[in-house]
Amino acid sequence: MTTTTQLQELVREARERFEASATAADLENAKASFLGKSGAITALMKGLATLDPQQKREQGAEINLAKQAIEQALQARRDALAEAELQARLAEQAIDVTLDGRGQRRGGLHPVVRSWMRIEAIFHSIGFEVAEGPEIEDDWTNFTALNSPQDHPARSMQDTFYVDLEDERGQPLLLRTHTSPMQVRHARAHVERHGSAAMPDIRVIAPGRTYRVDSDATHSPMFHQFEGLWIGRRVSMADLKGVYTEFLHRFFERDDIELRFRPSYFPFTEPSAEIDMMFDSGPLKGRWLEISGAGQVHPTVVRNFGLDPEQFIGFAFGSGIERLTMLRYGIGDLRLFYGSDLRFLEQFHAA
Ligand code: DAH
Repeated sequence: MTTTTQLQELVREARERFEASATAADLENAKASFLGKSGAITALMKGLATLDPQQKREQGAEINLAKQAIEQALQARRDALAEAELQARLAEQAIDVTLDGRGQRRGGLHPVVRSWMRIEAIFHSIGFEVAEGPEIEDDWTNFTALNSPQDHPARSMQDTFYVDLEDERGQPLLLRTHTSPMQVRHARAHVERHGSAAMPDIRVIAPGRTYRVDSDATHSPMFHQFEGLWIGRRVSMADLKGVYTEFLHRFFERDDIELRFRPSYFPFTEPSAEIDMMFDSGPLKGRWLEISGAGQVHPTVVRNFGLDPEQFIGFAFGSGIERLTMLRYGIGDLRLFYGSDLRFLEQFHAA
């Protein structure tokens, strides 16, 4: 016979063991000691067999109540553990929406891009179109059309990167060494569109990336130029000087700048000049600084535009955007532009 007190004691013990189980696995082990095949309740049930019917009924009812109490306690603990686990997981994954963000810092424009945009805006405002063309250029447009025939020594002024391909006309392809081929592309398209009889002047700048086998403090294998071209029926070097002077004053936002044309040689111009400039004040005061090649477009090149050089004349120039940017901001080493050093680049974010 098992007394009511013993049964109550068993239920109490089960509750304690269940409470003390910290995990679902512990709890299932504890359950086995009471409700399992060889658990205490099961053993008591088996013991009923030896009792007479009256006792069996009474004892059976009591054991059943105890069993139900233990099952309830078990279920309560299961629920509690599941709830605790859920809470723990939620806490772990909690997002504190009141926390400050890590912050996205605002980027900025690269100083060369700033210059590029300024150059476009200035020339646009004085009546120049803006054109862009391919960085992979064909040999004819980059050299031959610009009066540098194959094997002419002037070609070695600009060593370049050849691409292992030819275009559809069998022309070798290369990374353009200057923006000058854009003179040819733009002028030919212009002539095709307007015809030469009543053609409006060709007035264009073409900024972009250019490439040469060159690398030191003032040369980078990739660099930027902008080409200028003005072709009409009576355009002169005096117009070139006027346009370029206006550009420099506006680019540097100052008037105390002097210009000089120094004789030079380029295959695509005749006469050719280097444009030098000088500031009349500031740290660079009094030093002639070379900033651009220029000249009157060579008759052969005008003919390659599809125009009669007896009727059409004009000037071209090609200037380095890095060079102008270095002068504007006082930057001493060209390689700073391409080092991706944020300490350098961030100085221009508010410029
Ligand atoms: N293409 C020349 C260079 O990269 C620069 C140049 C010189 C461009 C004279 C011109 C020009 O349009 O007339 O060195």
